Amino acid sequence: MDITIKFYGETKSKADLLVAASFQGEKTPPAALRTVDSAAFELAKAAIQKKRFSGKEGEQFSSYDGSLKVANELVLLGLGKKNGWSREKLRKRIAGVLSYAKCQDLKTVYILVESFLGGPIRTDEAAEIVPETLDRADYRFDKYLSKKDDNPKREVKQIALLYSKKSQKNSLEKALRCARIVADAVNFTRHLINEPANVMPPRQLAAQAREIARQGKFRCQILGPAEIKKHKMGGIIAVSQGSHEPPQLIILEYGTAHKKAGTICLVGKGVTFDTGGISIKPSRDMEKMKYDMSGAAAVIGILKAASRLKLPLHIIGIAPCVENMPGGGAQRPGDIIKMYNGKSVEVINTDAEGRLILADALAYAERFKPKALIDMATLTGACAVTFADKAIGLMGNDHALIERIRKAGETTGERCWELPLWDEYFEIIKGHHSDIMNAGSGYGGTITAAMFLKEFVTSKSWAHLDIAGTAWVDSNKPYNTRGATGVGVRIILEFLRHWKS
Ligand code: BES
Ligand code: MN
Ligand code: ZN
Repeated sequence: MDITIKFYGETKSKADLLVAASFQGEKTPPAALRTVDSAAFELAKAAIQKKRFSGKEGEQFSSYDGSLKVANELVLLGLGKKNGWSREKLRKRIAGVLSYAKCQDLKTVYILVESFLGGPIRTDEAAEIVPETLDRADYRFDKYLSKKDDNPKREVKQIALLYSKKSQKNSLEKALRCARIVADAVNFTRHLINEPANVMPPRQLAAQAREIARQGKFRCQILGPAEIKKHKMGGIIAVSQGSHEPPQLIILEYGTAHKKAGTICLVGKGVTFDTGGISIKPSRDMEKMKYDMSGAAAVIGILKAASRLKLPLHIIGIAPCVENMPGGGAQRPGDIIKMYNGKSVEVINTDAEGRLILADALAYAERFKPKALIDMATLTGACAVTFADKAIGLMGNDHALIERIRKAGETTGERCWELPLWDEYFEIIKGHHSDIMNAGSGYGGTITAAMFLKEFVTSKSWAHLDIAGTAWVDSNKPYNTRGATGVGVRIILEFLRHWKS
């Protein structure tokens, strides 16, 4: 899909579709429409006057009138009340535009971006949101479908975003470039996650990370089983020992030239498949557990985008990758293991494996003396139970950091909700025969998991994002098809782009 910027008057070739939008109660169509296509403007005006279009949210008026100048079809979208307009509504409508164009098998589309502006959304923001959403909405995971005939590849070839002010050309072009880099990272992350566990075991994930680092010309170090053992990373060893797939610790380093600005460490859970181990999961929905490496995939995606955006930051990405299987060598419930930081853990439940591998990775991350340490993980079913796919569970030890991340999520539509890490919660996982237990009573599951991680963090500025509910959707949504969402990539990139230490 080709996305370009055009200015009014540059719409020389006739597109299949021209899309404009109007808020509820507006007496006339957006003035910009008159500049782009006076016939379209008149048609839209007539529709409003004849009460065929009122601008209500979700409304769509379409016309194929032969008098249209720049396209064969005009679609006018109702955006609802201007004061209720939001970024998320914009995303949904833009995804709807792409889906409409695909259904109708349209190849070329003009979008009058300025008619979507209002409320909190100004040109600069829309200039990123629109193309970013188009790219996200265009993503399909269909590489394994052999009967392409049943799935005609309805592809929109060319989308032109129409703007009025040529003076803004540079900033609009830049916004488009950034948007496509971010969306590419999201879709890449979704791809890594959607790939089944037989195709994307830890070694493959590591190979993907290595390739991204090669392309982006930044450092990548992979620790294999021998080095992981040498480092005495007891958590990673214990979880991986029930699988034939060797564990891999991915360490990415971007922006060494910007070390002075302070280091940011990102850590992502990379369980390429979670059977639960000996504490085996019920078979229902188990196939979904290939998405248990969503945190790791997000970290790789973020580094990919950070390098392409040339962010002036020093970022370390760490992803402990394992497969949690109940093989003959598997750890048992009751096993007591010693972690990288020396603490002992009784493995009450082998299905609470994420915290075991993250604990080692977080403790390892401290060697980089990060100004901010952020981990992302599909850590607890309890988080999905609490928030469904609507919010990230956000926890940590630094209010300012949490607030920055939360704000970034409001902007990107990856909403976060903070949960408390009160000391009293530690009682639930305090060990009897070991320092800590890896599972408690089951109550407060999302919080106790984070309390466990906290035992391995010495950094004063740490945040933990539980993405168990948000990393996957079970049905098609406006800009997410069934499967991985790539959550975490945009929120952290938004956070990084505004980072000042
Ligand atoms: N990967 C799961 C968490 C999960 C469950 C993510 C469902 C997405 C959907 C994690 O490893 C896990 O199994 N957690 C257990 C912890 C429990 C045994 C203390 C859980 O949440 O049930
Ligand atoms: Mn598990
Ligand atoms: Zn897991």
